[in-house]
Amino acid sequence: MTTQTETIDSVLTESRVFDPPSPEAVGAPRWLIEDEATYKRMHAESIENPEAFYGSAAKELHWFRPFDKVVEFESPDAVWFKGGTTNLCYNCVDRHVAEGRGNAIGLVWEGEPTDADGAPEVVSYTYSELQAATSRFANALKARGVKPGDVVTIYMGMVPELAIACLACARLGAVHSVIFGGFASHSIVDRVKDADSSIVVTCDGAWRRGKVVPLKANVDEACAALDGAVKTIICLKRCGNEVAWEDGRDVWWHDAVENEPASCACAELDSESTAFILYTSGSTGKPKGIKHTVGGYMVHTYLTSKYVFNLIPGLDEPTRQLPNGRPLSGQVYWCTADVGWITGHSYIVYGVMANGVPTLMYEGAPDCPDCDRFWDIVERHKVTQFYTAPTAIRAFMKWGRAHCEKHDLSSLQVLGSVGEPINPEAWMWYREVIGRGVCPIVDTWWQTETGGHMLTTMPGAHKTKPGSCGVPFFGVDAAICDEDGTEIEGGGGLLCVRRPWPSMLRGIWGDRDRFIETYWQKFDVNGTVSAGKPSPYYFAGDGAQRDADGYFWIMGRVDDVINVSGHRMGTAEVESSLVAHPAVVEAAVVGIPHEIKGTGIAAFCILEPGSKPADAEAAKALKQALRAHVGEQIGAIAKPDLLRFTDALPKTRSGKIMRRLLRDIAAGNEIAGDTTTLEDRTVIDKLLADES
Ligand code: PRX
Repeated sequence: MTTQTETIDSVLTESRVFDPPSPEAVGAPRWLIEDEATYKRMHAESIENPEAFYGSAAKELHWFRPFDKVVEFESPDAVWFKGGTTNLCYNCVDRHVAEGRGNAIGLVWEGEPTDADGAPEVVSYTYSELQAATSRFANALKARGVKPGDVVTIYMGMVPELAIACLACARLGAVHSVIFGGFASHSIVDRVKDADSSIVVTCDGAWRRGKVVPLKANVDEACAALDGAVKTIICLKRCGNEVAWEDGRDVWWHDAVENEPASCACAELDSESTAFILYTSGSTGKPKGIKHTVGGYMVHTYLTSKYVFNLIPGLDEPTRQLPNGRPLSGQVYWCTADVGWITGHSYIVYGVMANGVPTLMYEGAPDCPDCDRFWDIVERHKVTQFYTAPTAIRAFMKWGRAHCEKHDLSSLQVLGSVGEPINPEAWMWYREVIGRGVCPIVDTWWQTETGGHMLTTMPGAHKTKPGSCGVPFFGVDAAICDEDGTEIEGGGGLLCVRRPWPSMLRGIWGDRDRFIETYWQKFDVNGTVSAGKPSPYYFAGDGAQRDADGYFWIMGRVDDVINVSGHRMGTAEVESSLVAHPAVVEAAVVGIPHEIKGTGIAAFCILEPGSKPADAEAAKALKQALRAHVGEQIGAIAKPDLLRFTDALPKTRSGKIMRRLLRDIAAGNEIAGDTTTLEDRTVIDKLLADES
């Protein structure tokens, strides 16, 4: 099947299909959704009667005050679990204590450094310990004036205190805004300013591949540019690196919690109160603060974690010991993402912890001290669910299967993939080498905006197909439309969601117009948009097609967002960083195929006349300087893989950059498609002839 449109190219030739295994085949206690018929029945019920379906799902969790109504929707505004009050931290931590599981392990953490014998530091928390730790930190925040609704910025490495800080905010009803620790100080400035946040929680440093990333120094630099807007910095001592200190503003985490009581009541929050904001890239230079609310987000992440990963909370009797000697029973779930991304929010912290299955956090890099680190972790902790990104799988493939074969991976029951389309070759390798040729792979399609899984398979219910993310989750009504909003069955089109789901975004922080323009104006369903109203359909920004079995195949973004190593980067963000450099007058950024990252970044720059490099050496130095500049402005993830200098960019007569042509040039492909709208064809000829 081949489809080509201006924005969507896909060649779909994959025909392998794998049946779901029996639970015995992978060592799972049972499958929560046992067969496809059960999925179909439950999915039909969730669509036909969301009140009943989601009403009863929500009641598996604790509500201080029961909700009166499951859902109300007037596009683009949804209200889920109206009138109900609840608390995310209560459901992830206190509920387990209240139900007698206080001594069960809820969080396991492994640090990156290893000692002389090769042993890493392992720390674990029971639910009772998490209750005490989140209470202490919540009290410390309260003592510094944090009130419900205030935005607390969190910029930390992958330490357990990161999860504790998030949960402590949830306890209080404060809104957290987590910034990925790999971002540079400029990114902190933008996000702190946009969220109007006056408190930052950070670490002295973070371990990454044996080196210290100076997080506190990055925060200090950001604060200098923020003119005193940040009143408090709480800093966790992790690496022991030297840090600058401003008395009155800066406080060590251990000092802040030392005298705080280990109890703090969970705030009874309205279901629709804001839980957190998380910034993500869009097609303009300014990142969007995606807003999620308490009740709907909690229910959807809980339910997806449960059914997609087949989470079954611990047996009563401990069955084994953690590497640090503490007893543990049942499953251990590990997601390798960073809590700084939505995957970490939903599927390291909230959704998994709400299920009462221990969540594992690993601090560092997959190749530290060696390329088998992940498999060593799986073996030592007897990980049962493993959730990672295709970019990581491709790196493991490159490093070679010998690293995996050194370890006993037989504890694994379910494998997950997220962040970008997984190429069938990587899918097959994942299944054979990591999954012993039997573990089901759940390829989960979703977004920062959707809060939780939308398209996926379920391990015991569905056949799987390498490269397809499967079918809609319960309550998700996905469709493929053409540009006009007409639904199409065959061929490629635009992925949309036709009705509200509990963890849908509730807005872009401080920018209602952008929220409507970006997600709710693409499809003129029943003439809504032409009548000046938002569309009832959510526009995901992805191209997709559906096969005869109803399985979705994602074909990538249709807007100016590229997906680098499973993380979103707006081309405009990288472009504005490049033009902020004095040598660059204009820049155009496009995605190019990349062996490991999936998509890499190619940048075409027009230089300021006085900055033109005199020779190849000077050009090389300038390219290095520009890459470093983007790294400092946004973060290493945004550094262009390919940089080209040019005198002009290919534009249409109306002045629009023809990115499609730049993509072909950057990828070394022949120029395909129509070039008649080009204003000046010689621009292309020059780019093709000249390699600078
Ligand atoms: O293009 C899709 C891709 O990642 C985008 C969302 O990025 P972000 O908000 O950073 O969230 C990533 C983690 C959920 C989507 O618009 N994407 C995500 N998962 C998949 C995917 N593409 C194909 N298959 C997936 N499983």
